[in-house]
Amino acid sequence: MNKKNILCIGAGYVGGPTMAVIAKKCPDYRVTVVDINPERISAWNSSRLPIYEPGLDEIVAETRGKNLFFSTDIEGAIRDNDIIFVSVNTPTKAFGIGAGMAADLRYWEKTARQILENARSPKIVIEKSTLPVKTALAMERILASAEGGVEFEVLSNPEFLAEGSAIRDLEYPDRVLIGSRDTDRGRRARDTLVEIYSRWVPREKIITTNIWSSELSKLVANAFLAQRVSSINAVSALCEKTEADVTEVARAVGLDSRIGGRFLNASVGFGGSCFKKDILNLVYLCRFYGLDEVADYWERVVKINVYQQERFIEKMLSAMFNTLAGKRICLFGFAFKADTGDTRESPAIYIAKRLLEEQAEVVVTDPRALENARADLAGVGGSVQFVEDPYEAAVGAHAVCVMTEWDLYRRLDYGRIWEEMVKPAFLFDGRNILDHRRCFEMGFNVYAIGKPPLTHF
Ligand code: UDX
Ligand code: UDX
Repeated sequence: MNKKNILCIGAGYVGGPTMAVIAKKCPDYRVTVVDINPERISAWNSSRLPIYEPGLDEIVAETRGKNLFFSTDIEGAIRDNDIIFVSVNTPTKAFGIGAGMAADLRYWEKTARQILENARSPKIVIEKSTLPVKTALAMERILASAEGGVEFEVLSNPEFLAEGSAIRDLEYPDRVLIGSRDTDRGRRARDTLVEIYSRWVPREKIITTNIWSSELSKLVANAFLAQRVSSINAVSALCEKTEADVTEVARAVGLDSRIGGRFLNASVGFGGSCFKKDILNLVYLCRFYGLDEVADYWERVVKINVYQQERFIEKMLSAMFNTLAGKRICLFGFAFKADTGDTRESPAIYIAKRLLEEQAEVVVTDPRALENARADLAGVGGSVQFVEDPYEAAVGAHAVCVMTEWDLYRRLDYGRIWEEMVKPAFLFDGRNILDHRRCFEMGFNVYAIGKPPLTHF
């Protein structure tokens, strides 16, 4: 007999790893993960999991079939479980009012109705997906329309894990946030969730708030993180004009303990499924409440991110004699960050498309994301190749561009790469991870982010 039965609807980057860690930390709980996508579920039940995340394979191997189960029987699972996490996706709306800004909540609403139809006993429904503020209210209203009088309590418990370090973030979170209604039932539901997390998270790191603060905090946390990246990227543009070095500036600024040194790496731009979507959500919310100045402020964070990617292309064009047509450009990395195969909103997509518009021949290499890269560039006209081995990918290239900070790229033999490239050979480091002076001394013309170029001209 399991102590608690826990269900998660949505077996994605958030639902999968989160439930695997709960199953590992609570061996006496039975954890079920369901999804409408049968291929995803069979991948979770196979030896090749649908997502790459360091440490995940081991945890799934340890728990799957014991107290962790993946299934497509959403209705049966709703009946059998009284604690239900929902982590279905909430993409940006592509149509109608709020198009390009607001969250598309259709999957959320559908899931709420599914819960309503199949529930026979009281349920705690936990919002794991990042959602616009007041979604819980909509959820409560849908669930309250039950005729059978089943009781539902909605909690907000946003996930702060970052891809590539998801398992560590889940095992040692900076904090766990739980938002609830301030009623007897709300507090009881909250305590049930606190009990689950307190199996492995120190009690002082589990913070409880009202439900609206919890929903808003997730959006604000992502907006602040993205804002740091856009801030340092904006500064990188100024560094390139003034011969300051953005790495030196970031270090000097970040040593101020009030500012802190993390999340200050200038880059070709931020990607990932969350930052842009969540900021646009925040912007939409502000506009809805008539706070146009506040909306404009946050919207700039996204605009700077587009500017930074376009600047990268402009830099390539001007360095390579104002034409990229017919030139072979090799992208080192396609994932939106290292240690994941995820390419959602990756700056590499933008760069690849712009290069193709300039009629360059694009070669993409990545240790984990080639399958997603193929899907992202399917149907885009022009010449694109996908090559697993980075040395092979760079043969005959006019330029190599580092798009993802994979450790692998730091350790390559750039002398060997230079030998096989067309001269003059160009290196554009969109992540500032290479030893630029050494590469320059080998013969490369090196352009990094926010640093003076090192050229032989
Ligand atoms: C998603 C959201 O993008 C993010 O905002 C939120 O914080 C958590 O959920 P992620 O897990 O990365 O993040 O998304 P994704 O990998 O797309 O997973 C969502 C899963 O939900 C998919 O596997 C999809 O098939 C499933 N789903 C979607 C359902 O099971 N039912 C639905 O009705 C819709
Ligand atoms: C983010 C949040 O960190 C996480 O808390 C939330 O739950 C989901 O969104 P994620 O998108 O997975 O996580 O990765 P993150 O490490 O935040 O990186 C986002 C993007 O910013 C990546 O493209 C990354 O390369 C970029 N970045 C990050 C920089 O360009 N510079 C930095 O200094 C840090």
